[in-house]
Amino acid sequence: MTSLSKAPQPAAGPVLEVEDLRVRLRTPRGTAHVVNGLGYSVGPGETVAVVGESGSGKSVSVLALLGLLPPRTATVSGRALLHGEDLLTMSPERLRQVRGPGVGMVFQDPMTSLNPVLSVGRQLTEGLRAHGHVSKAAARARAVELLGEVGLPDPGRAVDRFPHELSGGMRQRVVIAIALANSPSLLIADEATTALDVTVQAQILDLVERLQTEHGTGVVWITHDLGVVAGIADRVLVMYGGRCVEDGTVDDVLERPAHPYTRGLLGALPDLAADDGGDLATIAGTPPPPTDLPAGCVFWPRCPVRGDARCETEQPPLAPVKGSHYRDKGTSGVPGEGQYRDEGTSGVPHRAATWCAEGSGS
Ligand SMILES: Nc1ncnc2c1ncn2[C@@H]1O[C@H](COP(=O)(O)OP(=O)(O)O)[C@@H](O)[C@H]1O
Ligand code: SF4
Ligand SMILES: [Mg+2]
Repeated sequence: MTSLSKAPQPAAGPVLEVEDLRVRLRTPRGTAHVVNGLGYSVGPGETVAVVGESGSGKSVSVLALLGLLPPRTATVSGRALLHGEDLLTMSPERLRQVRGPGVGMVFQDPMTSLNPVLSVGRQLTEGLRAHGHVSKAAARARAVELLGEVGLPDPGRAVDRFPHELSGGMRQRVVIAIALANSPSLLIADEATTALDVTVQAQILDLVERLQTEHGTGVVWITHDLGVVAGIADRVLVMYGGRCVEDGTVDDVLERPAHPYTRGLLGALPDLAADDGGDLATIAGTPPPPTDLPAGCVFWPRCPVRGDARCETEQPPLAPVKGSHYRDKGTSGVPGEGQYRDEGTSGVPHRAATWCAEGSGS
């Protein structure tokens, strides 16, 4: 992709580091504990897939990072460092500056991101011109090119149309084009391609990969589509009840899931779930309401394992899965501690929050 932007592109260090993110929302039914101590990091060019059932706090967790929750009802704490600068304590003005060129966002409902009274081209070129110092003609040419790249038919005409003149799928592609326009260093996509047909989806995933290769864009990709996870993710984070219950490399989490919830989602626990093809499986029962979380393990009410006395009373911490091929850097390679793989500068642990996963480290 041609870059017209002056977006900051620092070379080293993580793009995003989220630490102990917590979100509480005031609701008529009391305080909702929607995100409860979430932590992860995204390196340059890396894709972290966030998966979990509806209601597990995925969308709220990314809205919180970008200051997009209603300030009157939401309380956000923790840290979210974008190239070392905390998004959670930034002034609204600085956040607006950073959101443009630094962070691209695509949410599920395209109408929330588009301005209904501006043409598609205007919305694309405004971003390009504001952050890229390019001429009007060059920005328009780039807008047409981008619309073609996200698979919009007849981009030369689409550029002059208004959002209401486009189908839902086309609008979503426009939002994706806007998010990618400035080659952001971080892209946050929340079910971004769910409504698109598979050919267009594949085209967009290719485009994102190209952006990552060329600009080192770090990606947080929220999806329920396991095909997409397997295809684009380096790492997977499984959310339940506003927590990360398991994370690790895509191979570790998809092929050796340790948490009963992950195993259920993947259809790997026959008593818990039926595999329904490419999507996450359906698990009997529903997630607990965030206004009334269980006292112990957040998955306890639905868990078929419950193999430890602490399950009902104590939330298990996220701990390394025993037998995973990860070892913290800095500890000695003592025989019997398990193998470790050399990941270069960053090892990727496989962790799960359960008292009794098979092979769990606790
Ligand atoms: N503005 C809001 N006010 C109150 N509760 C909310 C609000 N937005 C989301 N929630 C609740 O927070 C929980 C997590 O929602 P969400 O992040 O949208 O889940 P997911 O994206 O994983 O489906 C849900 O129980 C939802 O009902
Ligand atoms: S801690 Fe207990 S209840 Fe929770 S997932 Fe593990 S086995 Fe199930
Ligand atoms: Mg959501």
